Amino acid sequence: MIKQEINQLTEQLNRWNIAYYEEDRELVSDAEYDKAMRRLEELEREYPQYARNDSPTQRVGGKAVDRFPQVEHVRPLLSLSNAFSVEELKEFHQRLIRAGVSHPTYVMEWKIDGLTVALEYKNGKFIKGATRGDGNVGEDITENLKTVKTVPLRIPYQGNLVCRGEAFLPKKDFVKLNEEREEAGAPLFANPRNAAAGSLRQLDPKIAAKRRLAVFVYDIVYGDNNLPDTQEGTLEFLKAQGFFVNASRCFIDSMDNLEPIIAEKMEERKTLSYDTDGLVLKLNSFQDRELLGYTSKAPRFSIAYKFPPEEAETTLENIEITLGRTGTLTPLGILTPVPLAGSVISKVSLHNEDYLKEKDIRIGDCVVIHKAGDVIPEVVRSLPEKRDKNSRPFVFPQKCPVCGGEVTQYQGEVAWRCVNESCPGRIKENIKHFVSKNAMDIEGLGPAIVETLLEKSLIRDVADIYNLSMEMLVPLEKMGEKSSKNLLDAIEKSKEAGLARLLFALGIRHVGAVTAANIAAHIGSMEQLLTIIDENEDGEALAEIEEVGGKIADSLYRYFTNRKNRDLIEKLKAHGLKMDALTPTQGNLEGETFLFTGTLPTLKRADAEALVKTRGGRILSGVSKNLDYLVAGEKAGSKLEKATKLGIKILSEKDFLEYINK
Ligand code: IVH
Repeated sequence: MIKQEINQLTEQLNRWNIAYYEEDRELVSDAEYDKAMRRLEELEREYPQYARNDSPTQRVGGKAVDRFPQVEHVRPLLSLSNAFSVEELKEFHQRLIRAGVSHPTYVMEWKIDGLTVALEYKNGKFIKGATRGDGNVGEDITENLKTVKTVPLRIPYQGNLVCRGEAFLPKKDFVKLNEEREEAGAPLFANPRNAAAGSLRQLDPKIAAKRRLAVFVYDIVYGDNNLPDTQEGTLEFLKAQGFFVNASRCFIDSMDNLEPIIAEKMEERKTLSYDTDGLVLKLNSFQDRELLGYTSKAPRFSIAYKFPPEEAETTLENIEITLGRTGTLTPLGILTPVPLAGSVISKVSLHNEDYLKEKDIRIGDCVVIHKAGDVIPEVVRSLPEKRDKNSRPFVFPQKCPVCGGEVTQYQGEVAWRCVNESCPGRIKENIKHFVSKNAMDIEGLGPAIVETLLEKSLIRDVADIYNLSMEMLVPLEKMGEKSSKNLLDAIEKSKEAGLARLLFALGIRHVGAVTAANIAAHIGSMEQLLTIIDENEDGEALAEIEEVGGKIADSLYRYFTNRKNRDLIEKLKAHGLKMDALTPTQGNLEGETFLFTGTLPTLKRADAEALVKTRGGRILSGVSKNLDYLVAGEKAGSKLEKATKLGIKILSEKDFLEYINK
């Protein structure tokens, strides 16, 4: 019985480890993993005769994959033991006292949910960067780490220095990356950690370079001489060397006020731009650390306090198939509404057919959900054990839910797409996108009116919007004279939106607001763009524009060599739409500076920035007296505080949109 349980736990944990460390896939939540690990440790302690040689309790981490050259670490990169309650932290403190540390004081740091890296320097030069691998041997990812802006290539320190840190992808970049991947039909990353790992383990460093990875350094694994003898000193030393050191840490000299400190940290956690999965309590004095030493896996002088996962269980009532403007069919999970981390969740994207199969998600299932990167609701897993006997796997429709036409999977993509360019569903989504705020910004032409106009055949494509008249609009339900007049004015005004917005509004695959703004700024006019396309059969000249890679160039080429699309451009031109890029002086934000912080209610950060740039404004990288406006969303943190102190104007998203569109 016991032997069987040990066998089962060993195999299960090994399977999870392989998926996590070698395939960047997470099969279980951290909580579930920790629970199984603890159970196995407990059983092995009591029944050592049954412990297996391949037990995960005997290993520091997963195994290094062999695509990259292997690197042996100068010293093993150990792990941390975990505490799951304040009680356990206090027990840890008592253990230290019993071991002879008379008055332990600690540095408490965030436990960054990223990927451990070791950075090696020789006489001030960055010479090697590696993943942790199994703790003894990792992968050589030097070239990828060289692309990370927060990893200094030169430091003042002479001699040999190896330090350890955590590579991560900020939450907002994770969200953006997944949006791009969804659009491109590529598999999604489950969380920022996997995205960071996936990015650093790309064989082509150009890919890592494009992702805004960062590394927080917190430890010296090896150094020749003159090194600090406390954790505080180490962090300061590392900072002085030019490393990116997390400034949000605190000094703990008593266990008495631990609860309120942790409660405060939990509040702060919501404002952080990166994912954390706990706090690390580290004994400050290195001399005292020597008294304690190490187990085979972890130091005895530090402990991780792991946060309870924010998860909720609910029922998947239905799976609806939604149609995107590029024809992608996306399954949308309809949930019994459930509160989770500050909001009520009733819908969750289920991404694509493979995702449903891999996670074995079926209609009627009990599902566990969480927020990926603390923002996007995601299904962690279904609970097959609670499933009805009659439940069947979800059969992905082989027809477009709107036009009933053929669907296809493009090579290398997991998404099914409706291929009918005249599909009313696709046209509707295209029109909604065209008129939306970040595109042509036609106020008063909301989704409901677009639907009515389509139903009554008053419009068939985006160009028809510019044929609308009072006679057509006034008789419509809820329109009347005034709204119709306002709408026509907004339509007229949109003709001046300029090339950047127009390119974005056309809904060309892979051309988001920022890319569209870059193309417009570089090329200047639609005429010039079309000339480049017509003269460069392979579209290579486009790929020279900043941030326009081959994929985007290819997409532009396909779009503009399609006869129907060229006719559409002609029609829009005939309606008098401005087809040139706005010059900065035409923008109303000339000379003004902006910075965004926190989560904005509707705009994505990159799009909000593009709105500023396309109007001639500038984005600053931090709060300083040169900043004119700080646009603050939810969970705005230190930037908001600093800006308030400096008396800088603070705008909400609504104020911002009103201001820039004035
Ligand atoms: S100290 C000897 N500090 O959490 C162990 N670890 O199992 C030194 N982590 O993979 C680790 N943030 O990479 C430390 N501020 C921090 C950390 C941190 C994240 C990671 C670490 C390790 C895991 C603990």
